[in-house]
This record gives sequence, structure tokens and C-alpha cells, in this order.
Amino acid sequence: MRNLIIYYSYSGKTCLVVNTMKKELNSHVMDIADFNIHKTLLEYMFPTVIDSAITNHYVIHTDYYDTIFIGTPVWFGSITPAIHKVIKDLDLKGKNVILFNTMKIAGADHAIKRAKKVVEKQGANVIAAFTINTNTNKNNIIQSTINTINELKQKNIITS
Ligand SMILES: Cc1cc2nc3c(=O)[nH]c(=O)nc-3n(C[C@H](O)[C@H](O)[C@H](O)COP(=O)(O)O)c2cc1C
Repeated sequence: MRNLIIYYSYSGKTCLVVNTMKKELNSHVMDIADFNIHKTLLEYMFPTVIDSAITNHYVIHTDYYDTIFIGTPVWFGSITPAIHKVIKDLDLKGKNVILFNTMKIAGADHAIKRAKKVVEKQGANVIAAFTINTNTNKNNIIQSTINTINELKQKNIITS
């Protein structure tokens, strides 16, 4: 199966999760940068209302892929402006999408709901979603990512 992981990471934790997923899934990866690093509080808090991201993403040919993973850190219980901007440009009609996020304390479920709403607007079929808690050490983050990917494989939601 051809898997693509599209993700944004500010301080590297989501990147660590993605690097682990990449090994487990043999997938392609698109790393999104946001060049607007001086955001107002409102821009952080309302990423799906205020478009504050300046991203580096190109046209993504979603047709090539069977499953698209979209990942982001949780910011104030929601998704990041960068990943919101990318999703809004994606053609996800009929595409199987797996959402994931990383977090430290709370708000992950709400952030998944937000992401689900945005990808479904683009036509996606959300087949799974998961959260990795990054409030721990590197080895635990890697292990919980591997465990989560194995669970998805066991349920036949994905194959590598
Ligand atoms: C601006 C900002 C807002 C955040 N908001 C939340 C939050 O609402 N809930 C939470 O559990 N963690 C929150 N965090 C922590 C991150 O979601 C968490 O550390 C994440 O794994 C970081 O991923 P990254 O290293 O890929 O950027 C926030 C971090 C930042 C920088």
C-alpha cells in the first residue's frame, strides 16, 4: 500500500513520531514548515478561523496514495495553523485519511474532532485517528508509536 504522511512539527516531537511511523510503514513523508513564527494569541487559538500560516507545501498528488496520514501537535486544544492551511488545499475526495496528533496534557480529542471536520470538508473518509502523548522520554514516544501502528495493522486498517 502507498502511504503518505503529511505533518507539521514545531519542536520535534511530532517529527519523532513520524520518523518512527515511516520506518514501520515504509511511507512517503511531507514535512510542512510554517515561516510565520510570530503569531498573535488569537492566531494560535483560532487556527481554523484565522489563516496565519506561511507554509512551504507544494501541490500534493493525493491520487497516488491509498492512505494519507495527517499529523500535528495539539495547540490550545486544536490543530496548528500550518496543518489547517495544507488541508484546505488538499483534494481528499474519497481518500482514506488517518488523523494523528501529539500532546502533553489535554485537548487531543477536541483537536481530532477539529481536524476531522476540516478533512471531511475536503471529501476525506476518516478511517482512524490516534494520539501520542509526548510528555515522556524519547524511547516511550517511539514505543507507543510502534504499538499504535501495530494495532492499526492488526485491525487491517493499514498495511505497510
Ligand atoms: C503553542 C502551543 C500550544 C500547545 N497546546 C497544547 C494543548 O492544548 N494541549 C496539550 O496537551 N499540549 C499542548 N501543547 C504541547 C504540544 O502539543 C506537545 O508538546 C507536542 O507534542 C509538541 O509537538 P512538536 O514537538 O512536534 O511541536 C502546546 C504547545 C505549544 C507550543
